[in-house]
Amino acid sequence: MGLSRPMNKSVLFLAACLVLVSPLTYGATVHAGIFGFGEEPDELDDLDHWLEKFRIAFSSPKGAAEELITAQNISMSIAEYERSQVFVNTPWKRYVQGDERAISWAAKKGAILFFTPNSEGGANCSSCHSGDFFTDESFHNLAMPQIGPGKGDGEDGSKDFGRARETGLEKDKFSFRTPSLLNVEVTGPWSHTGAYSSLEAVIRHHLNARRAIKNYDYSQLSQDNIRNLKNMQENTEEALNFPNFALDKIYLNNRSVYFLVEFLKSLTDPCTINRECLSPWILDEDTRNDPNGHQLNAVDQFGEKL
Ligand code: HEC
Repeated sequence: MGLSRPMNKSVLFLAACLVLVSPLTYGATVHAGIFGFGEEPDELDDLDHWLEKFRIAFSSPKGAAEELITAQNISMSIAEYERSQVFVNTPWKRYVQGDERAISWAAKKGAILFFTPNSEGGANCSSCHSGDFFTDESFHNLAMPQIGPGKGDGEDGSKDFGRARETGLEKDKFSFRTPSLLNVEVTGPWSHTGAYSSLEAVIRHHLNARRAIKNYDYSQLSQDNIRNLKNMQENTEEALNFPNFALDKIYLNNRSVYFLVEFLKSLTDPCTINRECLSPWILDEDTRNDPNGHQLNAVDQFGEKL
């Protein structure tokens, strides 16, 4: 038995609920989550409601709960939910396909900087952010501010050795995968630690990381419970001074930084900022969808519900 295709709203809905019940853990927690956080399957709140959703999603109109509401089907739903979110219809794509008016003059100036090497007066961005997805799928040490709880690395556990945690190699210490820049405008705060709250700030870090760390503006942090701030400078300096630190110092004036920001904004699929377009992935305001009251509601940058 597989998920009914093409994707229907019920699958998306179902997966959305499950992702929200347990964003981090699969298996046991998700299972417990859907079963009303109880141990036993028959503790599922509002069983009929959920069973109906599973029956539609898995094209099994008469399937039993034990057969349909399984950890495997839950995982499959979450995977399908994630796979369905393809937002690649950007102004930049239209421009590349020949519509010269698809992006602004400033974005075009930014594109030139983005794709031109440092040696020719450019910002060298495409040496890592390359290809249609703007990533080389490789790992680099950019010494982004280490503001988080760390991953248990280093003497006091407050560090995150990044890629080296997987490979065990010194040369991979503090390296992180180059992220895609598609829709980057709407995925802040930026860097793997979420340390920068504007595109301009994360770009300025790329241009002169040492200065960005020294002058780091802590007031941009709005997340709750940020730990290890006292270690930030010291831990990040270790990454800055590590032999694999990957960034050259690049001088750009304010206008050029603005152009780069405008270019990055041309990589935003308009669907990502349109509630109606996003509606297949957003939960309805139905309390039956949220029997435990644990639903997380996505909000836009103004705090308005998506
Ligand atoms: C040496 C490779 C490299 C170069 C050159 C580079 N980047 Fe990056 N970029 C990365 C990596 C790796 C990250 C993730 C770093 C982290 O979070 O630790 C990143 C992160 C970013 C982010 C944040 C993305 C997010 O989702 O948080 C933006 C925006 C960005 N880069 C834009 C640029 C721009 C603009 C340029 C040119 C000025 C540039 N990059 C040059 C490798 C590079």
